[in-house]
Amino acid sequence: MSDDPADPADHVLPARRAAGGAESVRANRAWWDGAADDYQAEHGAFLRDAGFVWCPEGLDEADARLLGGPERLRGARVLEVGCGAAQCARWLAGQGVAGVVGVDLSRRQLQHARRIDEETGVRVPTALADARRLPFADAAFDVVCSAFGALPFLPDAAAALAEWARVLRPGGRLAFSVTHPVRWCFPDDPENLTAETSYFDRRAYVEEDEAGRAVYVESHHTVGDWVRAVAGAGLVLRDLVEPEWPDGLDRVWGGWGPVRGGVVPGTAIFVADRPAA
Ligand SMILES: C[S@@+](CC[C@H](N)C(=O)[O-])C[C@H]1O[C@@H](n2cnc3c(N)ncnc32)[C@H](O)[C@@H]1O
Repeated sequence: MSDDPADPADHVLPARRAAGGAESVRANRAWWDGAADDYQAEHGAFLRDAGFVWCPEGLDEADARLLGGPERLRGARVLEVGCGAAQCARWLAGQGVAGVVGVDLSRRQLQHARRIDEETGVRVPTALADARRLPFADAAFDVVCSAFGALPFLPDAAAALAEWARVLRPGGRLAFSVTHPVRWCFPDDPENLTAETSYFDRRAYVEEDEAGRAVYVESHHTVGDWVRAVAGAGLVLRDLVEPEWPDGLDRVWGGWGPVRGGVVPGTAIFVADRPAA
């Protein structure tokens, strides 16, 4: 959750309450614009300028091949949603794809994408867009992917996934990583092993300013909710990957770290296909 030192609010008060889509998006756009500089400074080296890291556990697409490996990527049209500084998209650009584009809600995150484009010479087209309404035609992509982009911040995951599935061609692949639902039970302290919140409590985690306005929102969905959202979008679930915390990784990222990561999963990666027509 928003333990980032760049938290733009002077004073935030955490709450658990319902938060709608418009409220979540408004709050998170401002939060990510304010947090982007520190986020990239803190995590950029771990993500690598042109690397596809799925999660704080460090699972790398070059090894995991959840998008299908070279057979599927070569010549593919790929969309990364919630791309941040587009590190994943930049890695994909080097995999023989026909084209890759990233979208994100935060202008500042996309400015970091431009900065890294300049530094690396690998230019990734991006668009400022809300993951709930993608500015692309039906079936425009062969692969749609997201590493913790957008979905953890949206209350209606089913509607978002239906929109992502809309732009995926029949036979295409969609894969996304999100906070593992079981982690919702634990506070945002990576060494705390005491379940304090019900897994079944779907109320959002909301940080509010002193006037009660949301300044940061994360939504929770159980494993069953995610499976239903994938199926409801007309997709066939191929895999649910729960990366284990690797030996020797001491890095802490928010609520993710080696202590709790050695006991419960922190990330869930859903891999699904749109059935061929
Ligand atoms: C945890 S970052 C992940 C970014 C990138 N994949 C990475 O690993 O650094 C989450 C990203 O989702 C974006 N985001 C949040 N809500 C979004 C929405 N509704 N539509 C598009 N992007 C969104 C944020 O701006 C942020 O860049």
